[in-house]
This record gives sequence, C-alpha cells and structure tokens, in this order.
Amino acid sequence: MTERITAPSLRSRKTRLGCDPIVMLTAYDSPGGRIADAAGVDAILVGDTVAHVVLNHSDTLHIDVGVMAHHIQAVARSDPRALVVGDMPWLSYHLSVEDAVQNAAALVRAGAGAVKLEGGLRRVAAVRAIIDAEIPVIGHLGLTPQSVHTLGTASKVQAKNEESAEALIKDAEALETAGISALVLEAVPDVVAARVTEALDVPTIGIGAGPHCDGQVIVFHDLLGLTHGRVPKFVRQYADLTSIAINAVSAWADDVRARKFPSDSESYHMPAPQT
Ligand code: KIV
Repeated sequence: MTERITAPSLRSRKTRLGCDPIVMLTAYDSPGGRIADAAGVDAILVGDTVAHVVLNHSDTLHIDVGVMAHHIQAVARSDPRALVVGDMPWLSYHLSVEDAVQNAAALVRAGAGAVKLEGGLRRVAAVRAIIDAEIPVIGHLGLTPQSVHTLGTASKVQAKNEESAEALIKDAEALETAGISALVLEAVPDVVAARVTEALDVPTIGIGAGPHCDGQVIVFHDLLGLTHGRVPKFVRQYADLTSIAINAVSAWADDVRARKFPSDSESYHMPAPQT
C-alpha cells in the first residue's frame, strides 16, 4: 500500500522550486471518502459545507462539533490514504484556546489528521494552541462563510481592493508564522491569490481563487452535479449525477409498477425438500 498522506507531507510538497499541485476534495460519508480516495486525491476535507450540501441548512452556522465528528468518523472509516481534514465548526474555536484545543482533539479522535479553521490574526492564538497540542492546522482566508453575518457584503468575492488585499496577505503571513500546514483561499481575485501564494512558504489551496494557487479544493457535490440550486462561477461540473440518479430511480420505479422487479433470480427461494 502506498504511504498515507500526512499534514507534514502535504506541507513539504511546496519547495523553493515550486509545488506539486495539491488536490483536495470534500466528502462527508464513507462512499464519498472511498470515491475521493480511489480517484487519488491528496486530502479529503470533511467541510462544514456538510451543513449546506447534505443537511440543507441555509448556512454553516447550524452545525456543531458533534455533527462534524459524526461525518469525520464516517469518512475515516473508509480508511483513505488521503489526509482527512476536519473542519472546525463555528464557535468551536472562538471562546477560548482551551476550548479550541478540546474541540480540535474531538475531531482528531473522530479520525482527522489535521483540522481547518477560518480567520487570520484574530485566530492566531487558537492556531498556536492547537498546534502546541500536536494537531496540524490548515488556515482558511478570503470568503469565510462562518462570518456570514459580519462580512455584510452582497458580493462573495473578498480582497477586491489594495487595502483589503494587503490585510489578507498580513493575515496569511501571521497564520504561517503560527505554524499552519497549508492555507485555503476562498473567493478572492486570481492576482491576490497569486500574491499570497508567492508570499508564503506553505501551500495555498484555492476555491474560487484562480489558477495560481498551489492546489485546488472543490465541494464533492458541486463537482459531481449533485448540488441543489445555483452553481458558483468557479465550479466545473465533471458529471451530472443528479440526472443519472433520477433516471436510475425512475427506471426502478417503472419496473416495480410494471411488476418487472424483482425477477426470479433476484428473489430468495425455499430450499429444495430433502429426499
Ligand atoms: O467547508 C468546506 O467545504 C470548505 C471548502 C469550501 C473549502 O471550507
């Protein structure tokens, strides 16, 4: 079996010579984990997007550590070679550093090999404390969906002027100094992502952040055409599994109604009488 991917091995992919592109996909259950791993991704992010794409909440604020641990366990039980990254949900690292460490540990006990959390300078103390507890941390800047009520902007794209781009770079550098293994950049202009990528020694992993990041992350359901509602501009759908699934279920329903399912070979039979 090829070696498991760890946070240090992911971090070491970026050298002075460049970075072998990092491929990260979200997954929320064992079938998703198996698919991601069989496709050879480097990291599986059990993201708090589970709130949207699986649980149909309007934002990511509706879930807690228990829900995240439940989904991380399901992915970890698929036994992937890829690094399992557990997303720290809203309020799990905002109250105190002790609380942040306990919550990060709960996600590690559920099967995560690293945790991800949103925010820059204000989260440095939590990041340091979690790393001090021997848990690798991945940062997340740009559009941070847990800040939905404070971002207060109609547009999702962040760091669109020089001042906010510089603030984002400062946040990224502070996280790097605190010891993060990688940084997710969400919904920022391509040139800003390129500047952050250039400024950091740790890899950047983009989503809606253009082609210059060291890697890319995408939501499983978006990639496979399982998303309900509007598909963001940065998503390329590689399959339409919703249509495939509806066609399969309709075909089965038609067969049931026409009494063509189950067939004799799909049925159990009484054992032949003993003679
Ligand atoms: O929760 C998540 O899936 C994420 C990705 C969108 C990066 O944070």
